[in-house]
Amino acid sequence: MLEKLKQIEKEALASLQAVGDQESLQQWKVKYLGRSSPLMKTFDALKELSKEERPVIGKYANQIKQALESTYEGISDRLRQSDLATTLQAEGLDVTLQGRPAPRGRLHPTTLTLREIYRAFAEMGFQVYRSREVETDEYNFELLNMPTHHPARDMWDTFHTTTPGVLLRTHTSPGQIHVMRQYCPEPIRVILPGMCYRYEQVSARKETQFNQVEGLAVGQDITMGDLKGTLTDFARRMFGPEVRTRFRASHFPFTEPSAEMDVECFICGGIGCAVCAGSGWLEILGCGMVHPVVLRNGGYDPHKYMGYAFGLGPERITMLRHHIQDIRYFWTNDMRFLEQF
Ligand code: DAH
Repeated sequence: MLEKLKQIEKEALASLQAVGDQESLQQWKVKYLGRSSPLMKTFDALKELSKEERPVIGKYANQIKQALESTYEGISDRLRQSDLATTLQAEGLDVTLQGRPAPRGRLHPTTLTLREIYRAFAEMGFQVYRSREVETDEYNFELLNMPTHHPARDMWDTFHTTTPGVLLRTHTSPGQIHVMRQYCPEPIRVILPGMCYRYEQVSARKETQFNQVEGLAVGQDITMGDLKGTLTDFARRMFGPEVRTRFRASHFPFTEPSAEMDVECFICGGIGCAVCAGSGWLEILGCGMVHPVVLRNGGYDPHKYMGYAFGLGPERITMLRHHIQDIRYFWTNDMRFLEQF
């Protein structure tokens, strides 16, 4: 029996080596590994063998089967490769090959919100003005009506650089001075988006890095009515035509008077829910009439010119919209978060 198996193996391997194309390969497979091949018949015949012989022959037959199969796979692969090479040479292009899936990226949720903000203000005639992220103390504070040691500076925990007087901007407001100095005495209507940095203890509500969108309009007859109208219009473009707004008195050193604007909660429609803490309102921005000192620092005569300004946080708006509970998600690069937008 063993002899017979050895003979089968020898013959099968020899004729496999001689195979030159797919067709004869298939014929070989039927002949040597098919159901009625001598090898497979051996398995059927095992039950007729004695107890002692059966495991020895069975094991050996299995080894041969495995050896034949793996040689078969190897040759089959080789033939497929050479077939492919022949077609490629003949036709130049293999259209049957699967294409590489193109990984499709997507925009960051903050970018999506920023683009909506740009669109809403663009429709109202606001241009985008880009301003630097590394600022001087002068622009970030002093020219915005916060002299050294002014207690209002405490509102912004600041990253200072090793160069005295140079810091990472804590808000986009210093851009107001840059744009005024560049365009004075022209009228101005711009938004100033960009990254801001604060020396914060990072938590679910606070990050050291985030975006703001500042807005500034300067001209000869700009009133608080224009401020309220423009920002209410913005809220409607952003959150829906029915949404209501309200202005609450507030304080910022660079505006007088100052206010904070709330929009009617766009989650519950003003009824009161967890997102608006039951109040029906969501605070979305700070604003006010540009302080005369700031106008003058920008080059405009405050007796002739007036203006309004505002600042809002795109991450905050994104969080409110999508019920995002933790601001840290915006910077942790977790695909499970990012892929949802
Ligand atoms: N710069 C302020 C902040 O970071 C936001 C702000 C408030 C900007 C009122 C303004 C404004 O232009 O008028 O908290």
